[in-house]
Amino acid sequence: MSLDIQNLHVRVKEKEILRGVSLCVEKNKVVVVMGPNGSGKSTLANSIGGHPTYDITGGVITVDGEPIHTLPPDERAKKGVFLSMQYIPEIPGVSIAHFLRTAYNSVFDQTVNPLKFYKILEEKAKELLLDVSFLKRDMGVGFSGGEKKKLEMLQLSVLLPKYAILDETDSGLDVDALRTVACGINNFVAAGGGVLLITHYHRLLEYVTPDAVLIMEQGSIVQRGGKELAKKIERDGYANDKKHDIT
Ligand SMILES: Nc1ncnc2c1ncn2[C@@H]1O[C@H](COP(=O)(O)OP(=O)(O)O)[C@@H](O)[C@H]1O
Ligand SMILES: [Mg+2]
Repeated sequence: MSLDIQNLHVRVKEKEILRGVSLCVEKNKVVVVMGPNGSGKSTLANSIGGHPTYDITGGVITVDGEPIHTLPPDERAKKGVFLSMQYIPEIPGVSIAHFLRTAYNSVFDQTVNPLKFYKILEEKAKELLLDVSFLKRDMGVGFSGGEKKKLEMLQLSVLLPKYAILDETDSGLDVDALRTVACGINNFVAAGGGVLLITHYHRLLEYVTPDAVLIMEQGSIVQRGGKELAKKIERDGYANDKKHDIT
């Protein structure tokens, strides 16, 4: 059981950005992708999610053996792929609870009872060490970076996808949000999920232990290793990493 990417080539506006990326995220595992700015990490995430700007010109993406790379984004979500939102919509008058219920109904093709759903949501919020008052906040309105991450973890725990692609561009999470993110990821993985975690953020890796670390440069995976590779990058940076140990 895995999210499997084989030899993925992606173009954005006629320019080749991903040049043959292969990786595999198994269930119960966390695969971390790191790399300098502009190396193609978000392109990878968006291509898996099915963003129309990202033109897959070669390769395959499968979820538990089933190809998904030709499906529209909502179909990919129904196959169990979750992509963190880079831009959270601001919807005054619509609570987080309401927003999540709509997302739940859409993914599961059903109409869940609002009160029953709220009870589930309260449980999930407590598991994530979140104050339940957060559920009543207006969707996206005045969200801090940390609150965006909290929403993302709630989405993950409610929608229960098979595989989550988390593009963690924020570097300024407070301890509170960091704990919720770590807790969300660890709970999700323990429950059988697989995570592709894109991060620059070494502090997160003190709380979430990667099973594999991949380094991306110029649209290719140039190094593969275990959690020690993330430590080495933190110590030496990308510039000092010569490409001699490509696997
Ligand atoms: N929507 C887009 N429009 C134009 N260029 C893009 C777009 N998305 C990515 N790119 C280009 O692709 C390259 C990789 O970007 P990106 O995937 O965002 O890198 P990273 O997330 O590693 O910083 C950059 O040169 C960037 O300008
Ligand atoms: Mg990025």
